[in-house]
Amino acid sequence: PGPAPHVWNVEYILWAPDCKQHGMIGINGAFPGPTITAYAGDLITVVVNNKLHTEGVVIHWHGIKQIGTPWADGTASISQCPINPGETFTYEFKADKAGTYFYHGHFGMQRAAGLYGSLIVLDRDDPFEKDPMYAGDLNMLLSDWYHEAVYAQAAGLERKDDHFQWVGEPQTLLINGKGQFGCTLGDVGKFQKGIHRDATKCDRRDGERVEAACDAGCERKGKGSEAEKEKAACEDEKAENCGVVRRSECGPFCRETQCGPVVFDVEPGRTYRLRIASTTSLSALNVQVQGHKLTVVEADGNLVEPFDVDDIDIYSGESYSVLLNTTAAKQVSSPSYWISVGVIGRRPRTLPALAVLRYAGSKNELPAGVPPATPAWDDVGRSKEFAKKLKARAGPGYRAPPGTTRVHRTIAMLNTQELVDGQIKWAINHVSLSLPATPYLGAYAYGIQGQVFDTTPAPATFHSSYDIEKPPQEQKPEAVQPVTVSDRVYTFAHGEVVDVVLQNADMRKHGVSESHPWHLHGHDFWVLGYGEGRCDPEQDLKNKEFINTVNPPLRNTAVLFPHGWTALRFVADNPGVWAFHCHIEPHLHMGMGVVFAEGMEERRLRELKLKVPREAIMCGKTALAAMARPLAP
Ligand code: C2O
Ligand code: CU
Repeated sequence: PGPAPHVWNVEYILWAPDCKQHGMIGINGAFPGPTITAYAGDLITVVVNNKLHTEGVVIHWHGIKQIGTPWADGTASISQCPINPGETFTYEFKADKAGTYFYHGHFGMQRAAGLYGSLIVLDRDDPFEKDPMYAGDLNMLLSDWYHEAVYAQAAGLERKDDHFQWVGEPQTLLINGKGQFGCTLGDVGKFQKGIHRDATKCDRRDGERVEAACDAGCERKGKGSEAEKEKAACEDEKAENCGVVRRSECGPFCRETQCGPVVFDVEPGRTYRLRIASTTSLSALNVQVQGHKLTVVEADGNLVEPFDVDDIDIYSGESYSVLLNTTAAKQVSSPSYWISVGVIGRRPRTLPALAVLRYAGSKNELPAGVPPATPAWDDVGRSKEFAKKLKARAGPGYRAPPGTTRVHRTIAMLNTQELVDGQIKWAINHVSLSLPATPYLGAYAYGIQGQVFDTTPAPATFHSSYDIEKPPQEQKPEAVQPVTVSDRVYTFAHGEVVDVVLQNADMRKHGVSESHPWHLHGHDFWVLGYGEGRCDPEQDLKNKEFINTVNPPLRNTAVLFPHGWTALRFVADNPGVWAFHCHIEPHLHMGMGVVFAEGMEERRLRELKLKVPREAIMCGKTALAAMARPLAP
């Protein structure tokens, strides 16, 4: 039982998400993909026809646990074989829990190519709908968009010997797949330091003026090192200010077309649930609604103790629901407001995206006033404070974590950026992930693990003298291991209680460390806490100052902040093979992930072999094994 199957053709389309046309991956001729809406408990069926003529495809249902259906998780090389061009695969899985989710491609860098959409699971007994003020949901799927094709991006990331080409910052931020490249709509003032636009409408002249300023050049005024410094500072500033606004490519105020802005219509005096999810390739974002406070009520499909905020930080892979009250703003004469979404965590080179919150009866095309400014990009403290405010909301949907004494294993995961054979890679305990050609799940079902991947256990810790304040290349020789590019896995017995401590450190540059949003498939984990510096699991995981075992939030994504650590707990109670990785697409591509093989005990494999749909695993070595040893009738 369940809603009618969704039938999707995944195909190359020409689309102009930011008013500039590009080749991208669409579903049923459009971008983003259709929104799936289901009720908790429903069986969701999606028939995926791969009409991409030059590549395989898979679709991952981000936040869905796939309890008992590990083959429907949609991760190439892990849960299934990529669906070949011209072939069809049917995903069938249960919407296990109400919440705000999304789906996306999980093969190569297909997510960044535009293969994504919203997945909303409704609650038949929704606590928020009972509020007499409740008037409905608004949905906001956030993403970032690059003009360079993902194939070129991937090629750049894989280049060797100093030719590494980082993808850089995205050209445009998208709201529900819509944005405007290099253009800030309307009467837009100072968004972020240095990005100043004062045109009342986006037009070419404005673009030209900015371009002139950017072309002016930085003269050296005078002689000596001071003048040199000034010139360098000027050049830096110019790079920062002009990076994104080299040329104005503003589209029209194109409501009916493929690009922005998005308008959300609301009635005054009501409460809306604004669902926000981020499937960005790179950017961490800050979301603000001009003139409105937001009440955070859900994180990654789990209810949280409500709290009020002025703005919300959202990293790739995360989702939130916030309540938006339209009572306070009732009296305003031109009731239409900006929603602005800007980059945090990295020096922004991308203009904020704007949407419009339009009250019924508003005559105004555009909101009056200046869109809310994005907070300082480098104020990580703000983000941490927000993360630490999240506490689970007690109720039937929540189970507190097993106590610390019941933890079977603690795994420390050092995140480092390494140089391997001239390539820049991310590594976890000095192992950089590269996926096998044959999916792990098929290898287990057919008992051919050793033929498919390196069965050496993945390292559960790193050296005690590793100095996280130093880049890997400056460590004492005994503190490091040679980096391996490998497909080895962590194995867990069914039901094990596992603590994972993600440990951040210097990248290859001294003093530089980035944020990484880590996402786990097949589970929610409890986010026990965050700390600074190097974690000593023995001490720190027992320290109530950092660790919350009473009401920690359940989530599927948690941020590892620069030079800090993040502690998670989960129960390995969902037999399957699951990815756990940084949700930044280029980071994953560079090896920033691990694989958990869970409950893959001998006695369970026979059942797995019988249940797994053949088309999910009939490729590579599994296909050969199946030919040699056909299933008994
Ligand atoms: Cu949304 Cu493995 O990712
Ligand atoms: Cu990362």
